Amino acid sequence: MAYFTAMQTQILPSLLAADFGNLAEESKRAEYAGADALHLDIMDGHFVPNISFGPDVVSMAKKTVKIPLNVHLMLSRPDLYLPAFADAGSDTILIHAEAECDVEAELIRIKEEFGIRAGITINPGTAPEIIFPVLKLVDEILCMSVNPGYGGQSFMPNVLPKLTILRQELKKQSISSVDIMVDGGINNKTALECAKAGANMFVAGTWLFGADDMSARITEMRDTTSNL
Ligand code: DX5
Ligand code: ZN
Repeated sequence: MAYFTAMQTQILPSLLAADFGNLAEESKRAEYAGADALHLDIMDGHFVPNISFGPDVVSMAKKTVKIPLNVHLMLSRPDLYLPAFADAGSDTILIHAEAECDVEAELIRIKEEFGIRAGITINPGTAPEIIFPVLKLVDEILCMSVNPGYGGQSFMPNVLPKLTILRQELKKQSISSVDIMVDGGINNKTALECAKAGANMFVAGTWLFGADDMSARITEMRDTTSNL
């Protein structure tokens, strides 16, 4: 039994797990398979130990698919790069609560200066209470279920109570339209646990791009997480 009335379920394949030799084809594969949006992981080699790709890949995806682009900035200084990622065609930009900038000001900027959706992200070691003051400024909340930096890691179940705490806090603040997303080690089984705890958006890299039939996996994940 779900604890909360779920917002609309969304399934987001993460391009980090795609074949980097065929990023346009892989983006189309996700769109044709029924993805609600494409998740793009931007890593600076400083906030996280890995480096992934930059605004040019976001521009490529914008030209290639019609589904929204959900851009997850794992950057120490996202404030320096917001214009580049907004201009590249991001539909949502997510920044981390742990970033080295005025996070509240940057969330306002994403919405007011660039006119796109804003998301706040917390790492597995960050308490959900840290972001209570900015919940009214965002369209979505991302709770990392692995330490960010790499695909293919194991799901960390300590995210589950955080999802419930955040869903409760949204209700307490009378905020009805904010999505809660999970990212890292998501497959059918872990997505179901997260849905029961309060998540409605599911990012999956390895589980979806690693499938021969991505469409079947997206359908299965949507059905599993919607019919609680
Ligand atoms: C991790 C990234 C994730 C990653 C998820 O730092 O934020 O989006 O692509 O990959 P999987 O689903 O393989 O854990
Ligand atoms: Zn991500």
